[in-house]
Amino acid sequence: MRKAILVWIAVVGIANLFVGIHGCGSSGNRDTKFQQYYAQGQQLYEQHCSNCHQKDGRGLGLVYPPLAQSDYMDKDIDHVLCLMKYGLSGEIVVNGKAFNKEMKGVFSLTDLEVAEIATYIYNNWERDQGIIDISDVTKAHQKCDN
Ligand code: HEC
Repeated sequence: MRKAILVWIAVVGIANLFVGIHGCGSSGNRDTKFQQYYAQGQQLYEQHCSNCHQKDGRGLGLVYPPLAQSDYMDKDIDHVLCLMKYGLSGEIVVNGKAFNKEMKGVFSLTDLEVAEIATYIYNNWERDQGIIDISDVTKAHQKCDN
């Protein structure tokens, strides 16, 4: 039993060391805050977004554009932080395919919730953007044009 506790302490110690080395700054790391944002973001995504964009992020034919491997999403993160809340309409091109159907934003999302969803969709499906912080969302939302 005591051995198990020692092993546990060692594991936690090594994990902390890892976070300590890699956990400087606010982006690109996998610390506790990142894990919380990601997990919470996944739930919110499944609640607010996956009906259309699907759980696997592949979208639905020519009706709902994909988020997985979307070149549109990689172009302008601030714009994506805006459209989650304020919506998007008019023709857009995603991976060479045109879409033109209104997406109503989810206006009730708080800045934290937008940050969590963004952290999820920008670190899933082969993306590795790192955490998208609440302050990034607040900043982006000050200059939304939709
Ligand atoms: C009712 C269906 C629906 C829901 C729910 C929805 N979207 Fe959309 N989304 C769309 C449609 C339709 C478009 C294309 C809009 C256009 O043609 O201008 C779009 C476009 C997008 C785009 C830009 C295009 C791309 O594929 O990269 C992103 C990013 C996006 N949505 C993310 C989200 C996120 C995140 C949520 C949840 C907060 C969400 N959407 C909820 C239907 C939806």
